[in-house]
Amino acid sequence: MTHAHIPHTHIHRGELKYEGKAKRVYASSNPAEYIVEYKDEATAFNAQKRGEWAGKGATNNAITAHLYPKLEAAGIPTHFIEKLSDTEQRVKAVTIIPVEVIVRNVAAGSFAKKLGLEEGTALSRPVVEYCYKSDALGDPLVNTDTAIALDWATETELTRVRELALNVRDFLTPFFLERGVKLIDFKLEFGKLPDGTVILADEISPDTCRFWDAETGEKMDKDRFRRDLGGVEDAYAEMLRRVTAPVDG
Ligand SMILES: Nc1ncnc2c1ncn2[C@@H]1O[C@H](COP(=O)(O)OP(=O)(O)OP(=O)(O)O)[C@@H](O)[C@H]1O
Ligand SMILES: [Mg+2]
Repeated sequence: MTHAHIPHTHIHRGELKYEGKAKRVYASSNPAEYIVEYKDEATAFNAQKRGEWAGKGATNNAITAHLYPKLEAAGIPTHFIEKLSDTEQRVKAVTIIPVEVIVRNVAAGSFAKKLGLEEGTALSRPVVEYCYKSDALGDPLVNTDTAIALDWATETELTRVRELALNVRDFLTPFFLERGVKLIDFKLEFGKLPDGTVILADEISPDTCRFWDAETGEKMDKDRFRRDLGGVEDAYAEMLRRVTAPVDG
């Protein structure tokens, strides 16, 4: 050991801080850090549709744990510290900005529907959208004026959020394409450290992204679950394989 890593065996889960649909967040012995546990449950349509499969949590944990250090290396600060087990990771505790940040490369999902576009319609530049994180309200679409006026974040913070979200997009889009996957859109969450720094939190996984096979157009993400397409487990496993496999060239 050349650097000050706390050995895994010294890390203990503290009190359960929050249980969401896909993860549990625990306190740890360090107040500046949380332990996130990825669950096997899957939900869609604001938790009206529920399911679960063995290995889902481990797959999403592994994909996020693989991607976040790469994003860090690309200059994007993240909450990720280290993977602790199949389903757990150690993260920096943040105050989550209560806005889901959606980045779209290609029209799909709710965006395509509300605008009467065919899914797969190209966008001439990426679109960043914001939704208020409220299950009770169904995560309504908001603009940055609303977020500022309701003190969810300052204008400066939202400018940084948008910049980081586009930097994530600029890193991930070619990363996935090299692995035979089109990154159609994805959802991010950002948080603030006690010193006010905005960092990327939460997860990046087939739960939070649309991935289409670059050759066949086949969906390799949570839409297989949402739309009852079958083969959900296989799609998640294949995404983990592609994310972690070495790329030649
Ligand atoms: N580093 C972090 N510090 C504090 N909270 C975090 C951090 N990373 C993620 N979270 C929060 O932990 C929760 C993760 O749980 P999960 O993904 O299951 O939530 P969810 O069911 O999607 O619900 P929510 O609408 O609250 O996101 C989310 O509320 C997320 O905002
Ligand atoms: Mg979530």
